Amino acid sequence: MEKRTVIIDCDPGIDDSLALMLALVSPEIRIAGITVVSGNVPADQGGKNALKILKFMGQLDIPVCQGAMVPLKREYISAKDTHGEDGLGESGIPEITEASVHPGAVDFILDTLKREEKVSIIAIGPLTNLALALKKEPLAFQNLDMLVSMGGCFKSYGNCSPVAEYNYWCDPDSAEYVYQNLGRKIHMVGLDVTREIVLSPNILEYMKRLDQKECQKRGAFVEAITRFYFDYHWKYENLIGCVVNDPLAVAYFLNPQLLSGFDAYVAVETGGISIGQSVVDAMGFWKRQPNAHVLTQVDSLGFWSFFLSRLYGMEEERIRQVLKDLMI
Ligand code: BDR
Ligand code: CA
Repeated sequence: MEKRTVIIDCDPGIDDSLALMLALVSPEIRIAGITVVSGNVPADQGGKNALKILKFMGQLDIPVCQGAMVPLKREYISAKDTHGEDGLGESGIPEITEASVHPGAVDFILDTLKREEKVSIIAIGPLTNLALALKKEPLAFQNLDMLVSMGGCFKSYGNCSPVAEYNYWCDPDSAEYVYQNLGRKIHMVGLDVTREIVLSPNILEYMKRLDQKECQKRGAFVEAITRFYFDYHWKYENLIGCVVNDPLAVAYFLNPQLLSGFDAYVAVETGGISIGQSVVDAMGFWKRQPNAHVLTQVDSLGFWSFFLSRLYGMEEERIRQVLKDLMI
């Protein structure tokens, strides 16, 4: 099987870490590199966190490159309230000394696009690195295979304002730039679908109870980084569990049947009270060519069965049979 080359642009980030873990165990892809942007935490901290995940997964050979420290125009606002001071739920994972973060994420993205015939990008943070790369060398994006972006919302309410999702709200100018200038459809995995992906206490408990030692180790790691996220969701959203957005973008790339949606023209609001809102012209009022494939439906049992079977190297059907009772 020919592997698809992928760059993961991220801001780790608790749910980014789960997304990275899923990507790292997936045989269909070759991760050319992980590029980091300021979002949940500043990009320098995010880079260190990416290394922590790579070390845990035994794949420190994958390059990590630091990108933009601030959004294109807007003042930078982190999401440390959601992800903890360190971005990994204040889990106390030690710093990595065996590898370091490289500078130059934007050039890394451009070089990879120019070197390889087909490259896909899974962007699970604000779109600053991509906007900078696209502004610098738009032609390099001719080699882009697919861009999946976790961000935005269609009918769902926002998570930063009544109408805006964090990644687009953090850097609305970059998001708008990429939507208007990429020249191909962006696969928008927004809150309409990611809100359905709740890591519940039941699922977490199951992850720790699977018999093999490696499973228990991964379950304990996930528990350590998500505890803070659980507390946040209980305090602010009255939810016991946590919404994990980013792994859904990776799962969609690997297994598109898990989600469905429609093509539409999307614009991102860059000012005023609805700053960061992704305005989806579902009814075609503006008569513009669709620049997005907006995902609106998701099979959550399918997602969790896929995610756990990948993470644990177990047969998906066996996991599904257990989860279907645990997820009621
Ligand atoms: C997005 O914002 C971040 O907090 C998460 O990592 C995710 O990428 C959800 O709105
Ligand atoms: Ca993220």
